[in-house]
Amino acid sequence: MQGLQSNDSARLYLAILLHTKNTVYPFRTMLDGFHVLALTHRTAPLELIGRAVIPAADQATRLSALKAACEWDELLYLATCNRVLLLYYASGPLAPQVPELVAAHIAPELNETEQAGIAAAFQHIHGADAVRHIMEVAASMDSLVVGEREIIRQFREAYNHSKALALSGDHIRLLVRFTIEIAKDIYTRTGIGEKALSVVALAFKAMQDAGIHPKSRILMVGAGVTNAKFVQFLQRYGYRNVTVFNRSFEKAEILAEAVEGRAFQLDELPDYREAFDALVVCTGSTEAIITPALYQTLVGQDTAPKVLIDLSIPHNVAPEVAALPEVQYIKIESLRAAADANLAHRARACEEAAEIIRTGLYEFREIWHERQIERSLAHIPDEVHEVKKRAMNEVFGKELARVDASTLDLIERMMGYMEKKCVAIPIKAAKQIALQHKKEHHAKK
Ligand SMILES: NC(=O)c1ccc[n+]([C@@H]2O[C@H](COP(=O)([O-])OP(=O)(O)OC[C@H]3O[C@@H](n4cnc5c(N)ncnc54)[C@H](OP(=O)(O)O)[C@@H]3O)[C@@H](O)[C@H]2O)c1
Repeated sequence: MQGLQSNDSARLYLAILLHTKNTVYPFRTMLDGFHVLALTHRTAPLELIGRAVIPAADQATRLSALKAACEWDELLYLATCNRVLLLYYASGPLAPQVPELVAAHIAPELNETEQAGIAAAFQHIHGADAVRHIMEVAASMDSLVVGEREIIRQFREAYNHSKALALSGDHIRLLVRFTIEIAKDIYTRTGIGEKALSVVALAFKAMQDAGIHPKSRILMVGAGVTNAKFVQFLQRYGYRNVTVFNRSFEKAEILAEAVEGRAFQLDELPDYREAFDALVVCTGSTEAIITPALYQTLVGQDTAPKVLIDLSIPHNVAPEVAALPEVQYIKIESLRAAADANLAHRARACEEAAEIIRTGLYEFREIWHERQIERSLAHIPDEVHEVKKRAMNEVFGKELARVDASTLDLIERMMGYMEKKCVAIPIKAAKQIALQHKKEHHAKK
């Protein structure tokens, strides 16, 4: 009974604290402020997803404008080969027609109908479901190739990028940190990543199935993470006739060295006149790189069959080139059947992962609540200190000027003691509430 009373008064105290002047903090009892807007391979064609990818050079301006227009507190943008995802935190009411606003901001170069197509395809998830979705994405449960760990790196990079652009803050930081731990836990405790497959592994296998053998002549465009992984396969399987083109020459050189190949700057590609059997292209460009004109210059009079592997989203091979009769075009969509077979092998691991996420969600809710309390109380030490200073200097200033040095020393020490206690009381009360919350939650489970 006694415990209940003190807890009730602590709750009341906290409620008062949260609504006093200068401390109005958007304290929400649930995870309602978290939202996800996503275009994923499950709900939208990759071609549409590609159109929603923001060119690297425009991300800072477009995302900042979007955040301001929607009055969101925080934002994180993630674009991978099978999704475009916006994670945002909004403490206020949502702007009407959010998907339409988002489409207009991320893809202003598209016409209204195209933007409407993107808006209509957005999945909007909020609250605890949004948090769960983020955890599933990081654990690769929602990936085209389930179990591919690459998503953790992409997720971490997306967060670092949003932080560098001053788009994200404490809510997203907390969620990202927790999510990465959950994802690692899932990879350790379940078989989700065993005998790991990847988009690149599937693409390499598709290239081999298309008859490209170790003696074939391979032209590679781009030298980022994806092509670096492709080169590892080329190296392992003995492919040595490889020429790499990239915007920055140094990276092309590194990849070429691994397969004893040659490296060139990307702008030298139109002058390349040597024959090739397979062209592997994968860059961050949002425009097609292998245009009909460039392709024609590259092949010249050569009409022999060509295998084109394009792992970029948006695609880097123009549709007209992909459709040529002599071209066998392998894109991410072509890998879906193999990806589905992989998923079937990991169904049990996904169930186990879902259970870890279920528990993790409760845990995250508690951590998030505690953090909100902590943030709400952060102003208290400064305010109490100010009260002490005012008492000593202004309210009792004249009287204190008349007391002797040893009495003044005693008063100062007493006031210091009171200051510490005054700071400790609400923090203790808040901790009590958090503990009670935890107990109530565990009793419910
Ligand atoms: N990471 C994955 O697991 C994965 C898997 C499948 C598909 N993808 C897709 O592959 C593409 C590249 O991803 P990534 O992770 O490999 O990227 P990354 O590591 O950031 O590398 C990007 C590459 O693209 C080049 N590049 C960027 N913008 C360019 C432009 N405007 N014109 C010409 N070249 C440009 C870069 O050249 P510099 O070196 O000069 O910067 C670099 O070679 C994306 O569409 C992605 O969705 C990624």
